[in-house]
Amino acid sequence: MAREFRKVGIVGLGTMGAGIAEVLAHHGVRVVGVDVSDDAIERGRLHLHQSTSRAVARGKLSDAERAAVLDRVSVSTSLQDVKDADLVLEAVPEDLGLKRRIFAELDEICTADAVLATNTSSLSVTEISAATKRPSRVVGLHFFNPAQVMRSVEVVRTMLTDPDVVADVECLLGRLGKVGVTVGDKAGFLANSLLFGYLNHAVVLYENGYASREDIDTAMRVACGLPMGPLALLDLIGLDIAYQILEALFNESRAHRHAPAPLLRQMNAAGLCGRKTGCGFYTYEAPNSPAVLADDRTPYQPDRVAGARPVDRVGVVGSGSLARSIVESALRAGYTVVFVPYRAPDCPADQGDVDALRDAVERELNRSLARGQIDELSKKVLSQRIIGSTRYRDLADSDLVIEAVPDDPADKRAVFTAVDGVVNPAAVLVTTTSASPVIETAMATGRPSAVVGAHFSAPAPGGPLVEVVQTIVTAPDAADTVHAFARRIGRHVARCHDRAGFLVQTLLFPHLGDAVRMLQARYASVADIDTAMKYGCAYPTGPLEMLDSIGLDTALAVYRRLYREYRDPGYAPPPLLEHLVKAGYLGRKTGRGFHDYGG
Ligand code: CAA
Repeated sequence: MAREFRKVGIVGLGTMGAGIAEVLAHHGVRVVGVDVSDDAIERGRLHLHQSTSRAVARGKLSDAERAAVLDRVSVSTSLQDVKDADLVLEAVPEDLGLKRRIFAELDEICTADAVLATNTSSLSVTEISAATKRPSRVVGLHFFNPAQVMRSVEVVRTMLTDPDVVADVECLLGRLGKVGVTVGDKAGFLANSLLFGYLNHAVVLYENGYASREDIDTAMRVACGLPMGPLALLDLIGLDIAYQILEALFNESRAHRHAPAPLLRQMNAAGLCGRKTGCGFYTYEAPNSPAVLADDRTPYQPDRVAGARPVDRVGVVGSGSLARSIVESALRAGYTVVFVPYRAPDCPADQGDVDALRDAVERELNRSLARGQIDELSKKVLSQRIIGSTRYRDLADSDLVIEAVPDDPADKRAVFTAVDGVVNPAAVLVTTTSASPVIETAMATGRPSAVVGAHFSAPAPGGPLVEVVQTIVTAPDAADTVHAFARRIGRHVARCHDRAGFLVQTLLFPHLGDAVRMLQARYASVADIDTAMKYGCAYPTGPLEMLDSIGLDTALAVYRRLYREYRDPGYAPPPLLEHLVKAGYLGRKTGRGFHDYGG
């Protein structure tokens, strides 16, 4: 029978300590919170009051429940006041010496059977436990920020932790409505060691001027469904904490991905630590406020793109689902659309292909009519604004021409050369490539400065994000034109420069690869890895589930392409992924990948 913790001491009432105190009190546990000074205690109490008021305002707590929660938390500046607690959780700053001193004191103060836990996110629980004479009763309990919202908590057991202690705290977490993920004592544990390589990578891209902070964050939020972009998340975590975590990770892994980006050190030195100081990657209305203000680094207003050229007529080359989706979106956005279907370089499209594409669009419009999304008149107007042809020269009057043919670099170049020869010289040409450098396609035309990449994110056809890619010769107004077009057809935009993987794949695939390598190293199971990231960082799906959805063969091809370009081990195909592909386990589509879908 698991032990019931009735009274819990919390040492340190900063953001995490106060949040954890609230979670415990909310679930009927008495809490005594300790901090070093009256000011520190007052800050902790303020946190608790503000957070519970917000819960009342949102209808999650009644006034009476709020009063009961506050009543269950007492505060003190004396560590002696935790002497009768069953469990004491330390949540002070990440300083090993400080934590060891506190644990040595707690060891003297607390009853022999009390469990001592640390909320450290990067230090060794074993080293902390060695400051006591009861290392078997010391465990890590790593909550995520905000503790009230994030459902997962890592339970870190050392070589010496008593299995009963682990079972007891796992049971407590169940009572708190949290999902415990139990792991061994390794720098960054599970979630941080996956998360921080990715966050650091985002800082490196930003520092190198590859994309603006807004573009980086929009790309990851919209394309991957993450609740926050990496730079906004770093601001939430605190750049000082992020730096310490990366240092700890690097000291253990010696991996380049964990070497803290120099910009992080500079920002910390300048006091730009994120939300808590009111300024980090973004500028906030006030310290601790989530409200972001525009500042001198705001690159553009998403819907007012300065230099966009006027576009009325859009040409589309292609026959697949992406081409069809672009045709439909452009029509609905009020453009006149001329489309030329595409079969293969040596096999020109015929009138049958034109009719097939037109019929597909017509069917979609009829569906919209049936659903009441458009009326008869608008359907008629839309049907009149679509022109199909087998000849590129009918694209001549287009202001913007988009190629959406299969991703073969040579084929794309051939289409561009042909289109360039017949289309209005002022038109912007757009390639939807995800695999070949935009500059190579641009150089197949006589107007490379007017060629822009537009990578439509998953899910196919044409997901919610368009990465607008400019090459080293793209004219800014050409990129602005594609940006404005993508917004008008209802897509979010992330602007970036021309390199393999653009923004999303560059950031996502090494991150997912780290999860595969962690699995291969047998540090955690498939279920634990996915659970920790889903419930600890609010990912829509875990990283291994994500790879299963992408398709492991497709993912392998992406790794190979990225590695060919960057030669960095972070992009190398993880060996376990290669083995799964060789075994025919390709993810959801074959019923088995990292997970078994019973197919
Ligand atoms: N305290 C209490 N509740 C909070 C809160 C806080 N600080 N912040 C948000 N919430 C609650 C809100 O009350 C709201 O609840 P309801 O929907 O039930 O009303 C809910 O969370 C959503 O909040 P908002 O609508 O204000 O804002 P949002 O939808 O933008 O969500 C967020 C904010 C919860 C922070 C969300 O963006 C998110 O999940 N981000 C990811 C956070 C993450 O990855 N955390 C892990 C970081 S790594 C870490 O912590 C480990 C480490 O060691 C550093």
